[in-house]
Amino acid sequence: MFKILIKNISAKEILDSRGNPTLEVSLWTENFCGVAAVPSGASTGKYEAAELRDGDKNRFNGLGVKKAIQNIEKIIAPKLNGMSVFDQVKIDNLMKKMDGTKNKSRLGGNAMLGVSLAVARAAAASKNQPLYKYLGNFFNVKPQMPRLYMNLINGGKHANNDLAFQEYHIVPETNDMEKALEFGTAVFRELKKAVIKKYGKLSANIGDEGGLVPDITDAEEPLKILWSIVKMSNVKCYLALDVAANSFYEKGKYIINNKKLKTEDLLNLYKNLIKRYPMVSIEDPFHEEDFDNFARLREFADKFKVKIVGDDLTVTNPERIKQAIKKGSISGIIIKPNQIGTLTEVIEAIKISQKNNITCIVSHRSGETNDDFISDLAVASGAFGIKAGAPIRGERVAKYNRLWEINRGLK
Ligand code: PGA
Ligand code: ZN
Repeated sequence: MFKILIKNISAKEILDSRGNPTLEVSLWTENFCGVAAVPSGASTGKYEAAELRDGDKNRFNGLGVKKAIQNIEKIIAPKLNGMSVFDQVKIDNLMKKMDGTKNKSRLGGNAMLGVSLAVARAAAASKNQPLYKYLGNFFNVKPQMPRLYMNLINGGKHANNDLAFQEYHIVPETNDMEKALEFGTAVFRELKKAVIKKYGKLSANIGDEGGLVPDITDAEEPLKILWSIVKMSNVKCYLALDVAANSFYEKGKYIINNKKLKTEDLLNLYKNLIKRYPMVSIEDPFHEEDFDNFARLREFADKFKVKIVGDDLTVTNPERIKQAIKKGSISGIIIKPNQIGTLTEVIEAIKISQKNNITCIVSHRSGETNDDFISDLAVASGAFGIKAGAPIRGERVAKYNRLWEINRGLK
């Protein structure tokens, strides 16, 4: 195959959607430039790739990423210059080798991911292909529009309310983007009216992912409200939860609405929710080490065709994913590129999952940029779903608008 060589790589700080610095990489060939920006989570899993931050309290509250940028420009770039942008796997493996740590803490997972994604963007541009078409070469599946997981009510670490569960989604069954988006925005409008009526106008404030932040403490109430709206329409739509249970797990108990719940109580709560609502999936129902109780819930949920999804449990890490599959803990998985740090490993994580019939859901982070790489990745990998937040806020709609655009081309 012909080669297109990397000439230069530069990076700069930009702000993410929470107002924290993150990095954006520009990777140059003779005629093209691939640009990629890196997001950042709030409810991060312990086993995620390390995010390298400067720690200088006098600058951006310690969150600057100048060290990561220096690693890109002074350490990574000199080695990658002269390599072909089509050598994605070779480049990613070389960066891993240069880093040499298990969690990418030397070069920084953020630095490595920015470069890795920029390589793919430059490669797609060099072939004059849309990114999803180029990425399709790495998968043996037909590209497909994912189902939208629209997070309309925010709690947990993404909101200043006392709702323990982090995300309440609607998931329209269609993969026609226009229909899904039209429906999602309509439900969001109705939801706003409903919560203002019941909980007052401050309840229509929004959280990190654009969902509403009503003053609700009861974990079931948001499902009740969403279902009361969704069931009025003739569009088939499911509900989904990201519990992010790790964020309210303390000393063996789960703190919900000021009550300390035992694992057994929480398991029963989920069983009841599965029986009462048209759920499609429940993500991170237990803390990030609890493979066994994930498996117990999965066994029950299988009977209702509800997926039990790993996020903090699996962290897009092929080794953790294999462990979760072996223990029967999951039937679905969240794919977040910055949890692992290179595109090659992201692809490996998706392939392992698909081979084992695990449903893939590609996901944004709560701290986002306008980069829409995950939209192309979701389509190219034939993922079942994509999590991109509520259908508002620039950094969230960037992903939806890209999907809408791809959908026009795919028709
Ligand atoms: P995070 O949340 O980006 O803050 O980690 C998203 C999620 O838990 O899925
Ligand atoms: Zn999650």
